[in-house]
Amino acid sequence: MKALVVGGGGREHAIAAALSESGSDVYSVMKNHNPGIARLSKQYRLAPETDIQKVVGTAVQWGIDLAVIGPETPLEAGLVDALDDEGIGCVGPTKAAARLETSKSFTRALMRKHQVPGNIGFAAFSSFPEARRYVQDTDRELVVKPIGLTGGKGVKVMGEHLKTKKETIEYLEEIFSKNIGGGGVVLEERAIGEELTLMAFCDGRNVIPMPMVQDHKRAYEGDVGPNTGGMGSYSMEDHLMPFATPADREASLDIMRRIVKAMGSEGFPYRGIMYGQFMLTSEGPKVIEFNARFGDPEAMNVLSIISSSFTDICSGIASGRLTENRVSFEKKATVCKYVVPAGYGTEPQAGKEVRVDEKAVASEGAKLYYAMVNEENGKIVTTTSRAVGVVGIADDLDSAEKACERALEHVQGEAIYVRHDIGRPEVVRKRVEHMMQVRKR
Ligand code: AMP
Ligand code: GLY
Repeated sequence: MKALVVGGGGREHAIAAALSESGSDVYSVMKNHNPGIARLSKQYRLAPETDIQKVVGTAVQWGIDLAVIGPETPLEAGLVDALDDEGIGCVGPTKAAARLETSKSFTRALMRKHQVPGNIGFAAFSSFPEARRYVQDTDRELVVKPIGLTGGKGVKVMGEHLKTKKETIEYLEEIFSKNIGGGGVVLEERAIGEELTLMAFCDGRNVIPMPMVQDHKRAYEGDVGPNTGGMGSYSMEDHLMPFATPADREASLDIMRRIVKAMGSEGFPYRGIMYGQFMLTSEGPKVIEFNARFGDPEAMNVLSIISSSFTDICSGIASGRLTENRVSFEKKATVCKYVVPAGYGTEPQAGKEVRVDEKAVASEGAKLYYAMVNEENGKIVTTTSRAVGVVGIADDLDSAEKACERALEHVQGEAIYVRHDIGRPEVVRKRVEHMMQVRKR
């Protein structure tokens, strides 16, 4: 099978590795020169992932059978529709179905129309004065979300990032004046609880879950600082979260199944990876957002422990014939920590060297995925985005965290930063205690 990977980050390196290990010949198109993906590829091409003509032309030229789309921007640009037209199977939704991620108002309205549980109170605005009036008139704490894509960095929470109504209104003004996320904003009720990611393989009808993962969006240790694309993540050997029950998983999965059903009935079946971000609250799971692709870093957690053939799963998604017995994961815990450029989240220092001893990393029971770096003259150099993902894998969380830390010793650089607290027992314990408080409400 000739499989095309679109994208050049840590998530796409993990996708390329899982395809290659399950017997695919990997080809890739990416905008940066990711050395891990380049090495796994029979051929690769450096191009913007949203340059639909170039990506499709290249796929046709290479005789690609199946394409796996990593990031959301090519989905929004209609890459899957264009590949479909050429008869190339895709793991990724069409432009219309990708609105599940690309339009926050679309998703909330779909949930409302089809009475899908887990929706959060919201109001959408296309002008600044209306949004301002809504904030002035409410007593509630709100979450401000630009309507379109912002790389996970546009959301600000009242009571956390926005201390006062005045600050909230200033941020609204900025969104509209600078056209952040396309201009337009959703104001949501603030949900209180613990967050988790549940991803699933979808073939248009069937929804088959992966292990739960918890990401850490805040830039600094102790969950403070600006929201980022995600600093690291962990998963447990039982594929649940330490603060989540099997019933929580069922309820979250039920929401995802109903979404897929609703989308089918609306005429845009959902095929690809569905990413559900949930807040476990006193009333059960609430939907924070959906993404139309694997999470990054979450993809590195789950694809590091996949024990069935990823190539076979991708074929099942593309052909609309995926079954539960084709999907399995090892009963292992994983801890992923992202090495990022110093200053990431505010003023990242690009263009600095990172030195990696890959053999030493592997000897520590860990896997390493290159992200938004470039290989230049045999050196690995940072960009303004996340640089290298390191995943410790073991029978329990504590051992996985330790394996990740040992492996991180073999990634060196003068201008890099890591959130070391991710997956540490004391941090996880705090989350479990928080959830116990929330459930008592
Ligand atoms: P998003 O980009 O939608 O994932 O939002 C980024 C982060 O903002 C999430 O990971 C949450 O921590 C927080 N957030 C978003 N929406 C809400 C909400 N309705 N209630 C509480 N926190 C939220
Ligand atoms: N880890 C969050 C995301 O991929 O959007």
